[in-house]
Amino acid sequence: MKKILTTITFLTMGTLGLFAQSSDIPSSVKDVERKVDSVLSQMTLEEKVGQMVQYNGSWDLTGPASGTDNKQKEERLKNGLVGSMLNVISVEATREAQRLNMENSRIKIPLMFGYDVIHGYKTIFPVPLGETASWDLEAMESSARIAAIESVAHGINWTFSPMIDISRDARWGRIMEGSGEDPYLTSKVAVAKVKGYQGDDLSNPKTIAATAKHFAGYGLAEGGKDYNAVNIGKNELHNVVLPPFHAAADAGVATFMNSFNTIDGVPATGSESLQREILKGDWNWNGFVVSDWGSIAEMIPHGFAKDKIHAAQIAVKAGSDMDMEGGAYEAGLQQLVAEGKIDEALIDDAVRRILRVKFKMGLFDDPYRYMDEDLINSIAYDEHRKTARDIAKKSIVLLKNEKNLLPIANSVNKIAVIGPLADDRDTPIGNWRAQGETNSAVSVLEGLKNAVAENTEITYSKGVSLGEGERSFLMPLEINETDRSGIPDAVEKAKQANLVVMVLGEDAFQSGEGRSQANVGLAGLQMELLKEVQKVNSNIVLVLINGRPLEITWASENIPAIVEAWQLGTESGNAIADVLLGKYNPSGKLPVSFPRSVGQEPLYYNHLNTGRPYSEQHVTYAHYSDIENGPLYPFGYGLSYTDFEYAEPELSSSTLNAGEDITLSVQITNSGDVKGKEVVQLYIHDLVASLARPVKELKGFELVELGPGESKTVEFTISEEMLEFYSASGKWEAESGEFELMVGGNSEDVKTLKLNYQK
Ligand code: NOJ
Repeated sequence: MKKILTTITFLTMGTLGLFAQSSDIPSSVKDVERKVDSVLSQMTLEEKVGQMVQYNGSWDLTGPASGTDNKQKEERLKNGLVGSMLNVISVEATREAQRLNMENSRIKIPLMFGYDVIHGYKTIFPVPLGETASWDLEAMESSARIAAIESVAHGINWTFSPMIDISRDARWGRIMEGSGEDPYLTSKVAVAKVKGYQGDDLSNPKTIAATAKHFAGYGLAEGGKDYNAVNIGKNELHNVVLPPFHAAADAGVATFMNSFNTIDGVPATGSESLQREILKGDWNWNGFVVSDWGSIAEMIPHGFAKDKIHAAQIAVKAGSDMDMEGGAYEAGLQQLVAEGKIDEALIDDAVRRILRVKFKMGLFDDPYRYMDEDLINSIAYDEHRKTARDIAKKSIVLLKNEKNLLPIANSVNKIAVIGPLADDRDTPIGNWRAQGETNSAVSVLEGLKNAVAENTEITYSKGVSLGEGERSFLMPLEINETDRSGIPDAVEKAKQANLVVMVLGEDAFQSGEGRSQANVGLAGLQMELLKEVQKVNSNIVLVLINGRPLEITWASENIPAIVEAWQLGTESGNAIADVLLGKYNPSGKLPVSFPRSVGQEPLYYNHLNTGRPYSEQHVTYAHYSDIENGPLYPFGYGLSYTDFEYAEPELSSSTLNAGEDITLSVQITNSGDVKGKEVVQLYIHDLVASLARPVKELKGFELVELGPGESKTVEFTISEEMLEFYSASGKWEAESGEFELMVGGNSEDVKTLKLNYQK
C-alpha cells in the first residue's frame, strides 16, 4: 500500500514534557513525535479542529445524532475535516469513508473507525460482568484478542472497550458492561483487556486500539439511575473509581472516553482536574480522550455551559480531545481561537495526541491496513466458538446446590426444561452485541439436547413469555404481565419429569445503557411460573440468564439448586449443559454482591465499618431492620461440585518493614472426589488510618486447580504497595500500624491474620 505524507518534511520534536531528557527518549518514540510535529505544522486551524471531530456513520445509531446530515459529513470527509468515525460497519463502508478522505483531502490524515465491541464482534463472549466471574485473566485477554481479530477483518480498528466503571448498584443497567464492584479485580481485567485488544504493538494489523471508559465515576450514578449525578469526594474517587483507569493508562491503553455524569457538580467531560491534571498530568498518559456521545454538548442541559460554543471552550480546556457526534467542536473551536478565548496550543495538544495514536496504529503507513477483505475468509470462527464455550463455562457461578441435584445424575432420565428463556437463542447474546446476530446463541434447551445421554428424555415448555414484540438497543422489551396461558402446560411437564431445569432471568435489552430499573427481581410472570412449578415438582435447578445481580431471595430459600449463567454469548447453552451435566466443574465467583432486597442497593463488600457496625445487642446499628443483614450472596462467592478446605494461613513475619516483602502462605485441599478449581482470595483491612478504610479490600487472588484429595500451598507476596491507599495527605502511601490479612474462597468466609506495618 502506498505510503502517504511522503512529501512532509519531518521537523524536530516539539516540547512534549514526557521525558526528562532527550537522551531518555527511545528512538521509535522520537520518530513518532517528530512525525506528529511535522504533520501538525502543516495543518490549518480548520484541519486541526477537523481531527477533533468524530462522526457517526448513521447506520447504527446509539444516541441522538447531531444536526449535520450525511451530505455535510461526506463533504467534511472530503475536506479532511473529520478525525474519526464510529459505527461504520464493514470493510466496504470503512474503505469508502477512508477513500473519500484520503483521495480528496489536502492533508490526508487517515481516519480511525471506532465501534462498541464490548464482548465480541461476531463471536459473542459472556457480557463483561459475567466474564469477570471467571476470574480468569488469560481467558479474558483471549476473548479480547478474538474480538480484535474479528473487528479488524471488518474494518474496525478501535473499540470503545473496556468499560471499567466500578458499580455497586444492581439497578444500574450498565453494570453488565463492567467488572463489578471491586477496584482491584477491575484493574486486573482492565490490563488483560488492553493487552488482548492492543497486543504488544498497536501497528500490528490484527490489533485494535482500546478505550478505557467512562472517565470517571459513571458507575456510581446516584440511585443507580443512568446518567444521574455522582456525588463522591476525593476519597472514593481516588481509592475506588480511579485505580482501574490508572492501571489501563499504565498498560498503554490508546484512548480514554470521558463520561456523561457530573461529579460533585462538574461534568466529567468538562473536568480539568480529571483529564488534564490526573490523567494527562499525574499519570503522564499520552493518548487522547474521546468524549462520550454528545457529552460535550450535554454540558448545556447539565447547566454548565450556555451553548455549544461555550461547551466547546470548557471541554477543550478540560482536556477532551475529540467530540463524539456532538457538533460542539465543529461549531465552536475555530471561533474561540479567533476571538482569543482559547489558545491554539490547546488545539495543538489535542491534535498531537490524536495523530500520535494514528501513527502508532500504523495508519500513516497504510490507511487501509485494517480493511483486509482476505482476513474475513481466514477467520477461524470454529476456533473462536470453542474459546467462547470455554470462557462461558468458566463464567458460570454455582449459587446453591442442595439435594445433590447437580451435576445431573445419570439416573435422571426425564428432564423438563421450562421457562421463557429456556429456548431463547437471543437473550444470551446480551446487549452491546456488536455484530452478534439476533438469535445466534445456543439455547439452554439446545445445549442440553446436544449433551444428554440417549435415554434421557427432554420435554420443553415456555410457561410464560417474558415479553413480546420487537426490541433492540433503542427499544426495550415490553414485559408480559398478563398472559398466563402457558402455565398449565409447564406445570404438567414438570409433574411428569424427575428434574426441572427452569430458565429465568432478564431479556438481553433489560440491562445496558439507559436500562436502569427500580426493581431487580424476576420481571413479569416469572415468579408466578416458578412457584406454580415448584408446587408440583421441587427438584428444580434454576438457571439464571441476566446482566445484573438479581433479587432472588425467595428462590434461594425454596429452590434447591441455582446456577448464575449471565448472558454467556454465542455458546451459552452448550456451556450451561457442560456445567449442569458435570463435564465442567463450576469455578466462577461473583464479581458483585447479590442483594436480599433492592432496598439494600448500593451494596458492596468493601464498605466502611461505620461507627455502629453489626451488633446482636442493639437495634441502633447500621442495617435495615426489616431484612436480614448483608448480601444474599457475597462478592467472591461461588460453589463447586467439590469442597475446598483452607488450612490456617501463615505469615513469614508478622511485621512488615518499609521496602520489604513478606509471604503469606495458605494450604488449600480439595476434600471432595472430583477435580475442581478454586479462586483463592486475599483481602486486607487497615485498622486505623488517616481516612476510614473499608472492612475488607481484595488485594490478590489465584486460581488453583486441584484433583480429589490434592493439596497446594498458595503464596501471596505482601508488599508495602499492597497496603497503600490515597491518604488524607492526598498521596498514595501505606501508613504504619495494624492490618488484618484475610484469605478465603469468598469475601465473607475468610481466615484472618494480623500484620504490623512500620515505615
Ligand atoms: C454512549 C455510551 O455511553 C458509550 O459507552 C458508547 O461507547 C458510545 N455511546 C458510542 O456508542
